[in-house]
Amino acid sequence: MNRYLAMKQLPAKAGYKKGDVIVLIGELFGRGYANGLVAEAAARGMTVIGTTMGRRDADGTLRPLTDAELAEAEQNLGGKVINVPLEAGFDLEPADDGLSPADQLKGLKPDRWESIRLDWNLIEQSRSRGLKRFKTNLAAVAAELEKLIPPGANLLISHIMGGGMPRVRMLMPVFNKVFKGQGERYLSSEAFWRSDLGRLCKLSFDEVTADTFSHLIEATKGIHSRNTAQGAKVSYSAYGYHGCEVLINGRYTWQSYTPYVPGWAKIRLEEIAAAAAKRGIGATVFNSPEIQTNSSSLFMGVEIALYPFISALDREVGGKTAEALREECSKLLREDETIESLLAVANDYMAAPAIAQFWDINTWPHHNTPEQAELMLNCSARLMAMNSNLKEIIGAALSEAVVKGVGKLILDSMWEPKEHVYWLNHDIIARRLGQE
Ligand SMILES: NC(=O)c1ccc[n+]([C@@H]2O[C@H](COP(=O)([O-])OP(=O)(O)OC[C@H]3O[C@@H](n4cnc5c(N)ncnc54)[C@H](O)[C@@H]3O)[C@@H](O)[C@H]2O)c1
Repeated sequence: MNRYLAMKQLPAKAGYKKGDVIVLIGELFGRGYANGLVAEAAARGMTVIGTTMGRRDADGTLRPLTDAELAEAEQNLGGKVINVPLEAGFDLEPADDGLSPADQLKGLKPDRWESIRLDWNLIEQSRSRGLKRFKTNLAAVAAELEKLIPPGANLLISHIMGGGMPRVRMLMPVFNKVFKGQGERYLSSEAFWRSDLGRLCKLSFDEVTADTFSHLIEATKGIHSRNTAQGAKVSYSAYGYHGCEVLINGRYTWQSYTPYVPGWAKIRLEEIAAAAAKRGIGATVFNSPEIQTNSSSLFMGVEIALYPFISALDREVGGKTAEALREECSKLLREDETIESLLAVANDYMAAPAIAQFWDINTWPHHNTPEQAELMLNCSARLMAMNSNLKEIIGAALSEAVVKGVGKLILDSMWEPKEHVYWLNHDIIARRLGQE
């Protein structure tokens, strides 16, 4: 494993200014981590350039955005979007026989998940074709970037892709049991991970979540050497997840969501940054806290660790900043609940002996157990029920605060990249929010 290195010192303010550029590799949607980074870069006058995953037509063809989709994406981003489909992975990529991995699974019954056998020769054909398509499209994006970015501009290239869940209908009920099942509906993530379907997921996570970072660094070599030759700074950031320190029983304690099966791909992402750093490239993976986004919605319970951010902000900053967040959260609570009871429920879960035994970073990622799944899912549901309106939840308000703090920390630390992996825990994020 990479050395555990929590960021403890606030980075100095970066020198990025008007005319410098931030590039997002991965598409910006409404409420993800990248929104915080883009907001911060825009506030400092940087030019923002985005990319798109592209879209799939009803017949499965991958295509660029239509004019209307492009206009919407550019408005959402506040900058130009390079309209080349950068979807990564191979789940929908046909093999030599015309069938994709998703096609191999079509019509199969979810309850047979354990006995399903995939044709690995065909999967490998799909994988290498998907990779070829991705690299070709990435090269086209890099060529476009070379034209758009002034040679003397400081540049931050931010990898925001995370995912790779194969888009196969029969897998959804299986995933629902692995991530949201308890009692009769419990399914062991370890058993799933050992099955052919688990092996397919692993390949797909590696391809989308991790390897794209390495291809990105390779594809933008030309821009890197051109701009650094002019004395400009060029660096690469990526979002990792490898657990996070939050306040449990009043002490910052490393904990993690279980079962985070994409975790092995996230470790691979850290290794890619380490290899780049060895070649003198400023690349950093920022292991960021659990928040609620489009990507994390399947991982029910991941948000429990977010609630103690309220206490972290109290402790590290206090005053008006902490009061404002508390008040925002209080307004979203049901009338018969309090922030203290919310924090107590989250803390009791994370401090419970059956759960605390998972807080070992050296053996991460961990698989689920029936007892852990039951405690986590019930706690998640109980906390969720404390919201007065499920459309406006406390988790969203807290996610927004964390996203903002993480965006500021990443932008500032990428000016002088020091480490190839950093953990951004609740303490440093709170302290950064307290700076202004
Ligand atoms: N949500 C969390 O709790 C959390 C915690 C730590 C790190 N992260 C990481 O932060 C990053 C951004 O995620 P987010 O949670 O803000 O959600 P998000 O849904 O806003 O972002 C996910 C990104 O992945 C891209 N993506 C997904 N599948 C892809 C594919 N097949 N090909 C190309 N691009 C693909 C999407 O375009 C999008 O840009 C991810 O790397 C994620 O793993 C998330």
